[in-house]
Amino acid sequence: MSDIAELMDRFESVFGGPPTFAVRAPGRVNLIGEHTDYNDGFVFPAAIDYDVRIVGRPRDDGKVRLWSALFGRRAQFGLGADRRSLRAGWSNYVRGVAVILGGEEYPLRGMDAILDGSVPLSSGLSSSAALEVASCLAFECAGEFSIEPKRRALLCQRAEREFVGVQCGIMDQFISSLGRADHALMIDTRTLDFKAVPLPSSGVSIVIGNTNKPRGLVDSEYNRRRAECEAGVAAIRASAPHAAALRDVSMDLLDANRHVLSDVVYRRCRHVISENVRVLESVRALEAGDLTRFGRLMNESHDSLRDDYEVSCSELDAMVEAARAVIGVYGSRMTGAGFGGCTVSLVADEAVERFRESVGQEYQRRTGREAAFYACRASAGAERLL
Ligand code: GLA
Repeated sequence: MSDIAELMDRFESVFGGPPTFAVRAPGRVNLIGEHTDYNDGFVFPAAIDYDVRIVGRPRDDGKVRLWSALFGRRAQFGLGADRRSLRAGWSNYVRGVAVILGGEEYPLRGMDAILDGSVPLSSGLSSSAALEVASCLAFECAGEFSIEPKRRALLCQRAEREFVGVQCGIMDQFISSLGRADHALMIDTRTLDFKAVPLPSSGVSIVIGNTNKPRGLVDSEYNRRRAECEAGVAAIRASAPHAAALRDVSMDLLDANRHVLSDVVYRRCRHVISENVRVLESVRALEAGDLTRFGRLMNESHDSLRDDYEVSCSELDAMVEAARAVIGVYGSRMTGAGFGGCTVSLVADEAVERFRESVGQEYQRRTGREAAFYACRASAGAERLL
């Protein structure tokens, strides 16, 4: 990816004259707490040092003219044009944010902008949330207004849900907007309170493994899982009216209601309830420096996503199994929505090279696919650079 100075030069050559602002917003890796955020539960992600960058300058005619350095493509739309264009692809995320901000009566201005990104696409590292949050910040710079970071996350989540059509939770936009360098955030997705927990500064690395299996059915299956969780809560509420979301359901309450739930819905609920407990325990483990316990919880999370929630796939399972066989690996699991994308592993520093080699080889032997690995650092959330 081009750095900001290069992007500024590109801006000059594409649009003429200098840009007036530059922003970045990061992707994320979720350490644990998967498919809990739309159940009012807990998540524990970190922003990563792979991001989306936008360099731009406001316009006064209400036009948004975009150039994607990543795709080598232009796109243009007018503020107030609130229809999603099926041909627009990546620019739909920028349009979606403009539509939501316009609906909230922020003083939007048009802009010329160049976009670039280093977050691997379709890999479960939230390139779309990074693009939404970066777009929001770019509109803030162009229109000279500013949105409080939690509110920015909520508006970008609405763009994804109402405009792009995925009924996502708040995790991705939240961590992209509020991430903190060298920390993971334990987020209570009901109250939006969060706690920044320092990641170990030495001795251990967070390694992301990309299966390079494009995520197929993810949108439709995602919305279906959400509906299954809601069906579970509705059935349980008949005998426990306080249960507004799976967050309010204990394992005992779930078991007492097993007879009113289908087997599938029961297992979906069991995943979410057990995963919430694992998030809270993993935060305690990390704070106590107990990486062995943390890794074991990561492993349990993956197994529950594979068996109860059924959002893993053979490629993710193969990579996770290969990772767990490496000495020096504390734990390994899929990260993000599933059905392809990435794994996250906690690896002793001295084992990282061995990890890449051995997991890469074993993964290729089992799946015929080439893996990619990223050693990442927890980065700050969205910020203005110019
Ligand atoms: C996607 C969604 C998030 C979250 C994860 C699964 O990344 O955007 O809101 O639900 O899947 O944990």
